[in-house]
Amino acid sequence: MENQRQPKMPEENPIIVALDVPDWPAARELVDELYPVVSFFKIGMELFTAEGPRTIEAIKAIGGKVFLDLKYHDIPNTLKGAIAAAARLGVDMLTIHISGGTAMLEAAAHAAALAPNPMILLGVTVLTSIDGDTLQNELRIKEGLEDYVVYLGKMAIESGLQGIVASPREVKGLRQALGKEALIVTPGIRPSWGTRGDQRRVASPQEALALGASYLVIGRPITAASDPLGAATRILEELSGHTER
Ligand code: C5P
Repeated sequence: MENQRQPKMPEENPIIVALDVPDWPAARELVDELYPVVSFFKIGMELFTAEGPRTIEAIKAIGGKVFLDLKYHDIPNTLKGAIAAAARLGVDMLTIHISGGTAMLEAAAHAAALAPNPMILLGVTVLTSIDGDTLQNELRIKEGLEDYVVYLGKMAIESGLQGIVASPREVKGLRQALGKEALIVTPGIRPSWGTRGDQRRVASPQEALALGASYLVIGRPITAASDPLGAATRILEELSGHTER
């Protein structure tokens, strides 16, 4: 389909739009409006639980890319099967809890390597809803939160994952620790002209890329905008140095 307001793209479009909606009709409307200005879409637990693999198949059918964000955490054999199934659906990127341990991560990396198309495996370090106090006193992990996040990030890369998910406040340290090849995918993105919603530690798209993010996961600043295509276009224009509106 033709979009009238297609901006000049940055060399590689770093935006992944989070389809945090309850059903496929709502997701489809967003995909139809945004594609191909945005071609990478994140399907999370809510949409996948409600609508299943057809969400992935529909996005793949129009040439889009899918980030399946189900945050897998299970025994190595089960994970292998789940990743092979995701590969058959054409999933381009998916998330795994690093705290599942090296054997699980290596099994996942092995299964992804057998996939017919390249699949990016991302590790989840510590959920941003968990603070230092919860980590130490409830989960009884005595290491400080920031050090623990870096430790898990290294474990993910050493086990064969391609990258990690990190909040804007973690990106700089992780980029230093993990080197330039690791992919860092960053939610909590808010353009200066958007509202924060419930995200506390936010960065603008430009700031997140400058800190070292590889991809930006953006939900409500685009999906809840009165003009989602206009919001996505504006973000891409700002990223590629275009300021005219
Ligand atoms: O609407 P918003 O831009 O806040 O959406 C961000 C997306 O990134 C959501 O799908 C949310 O679940 C996800 N996410 C996050 N913070 C994390 C991990 C994932 O906001 N630490």
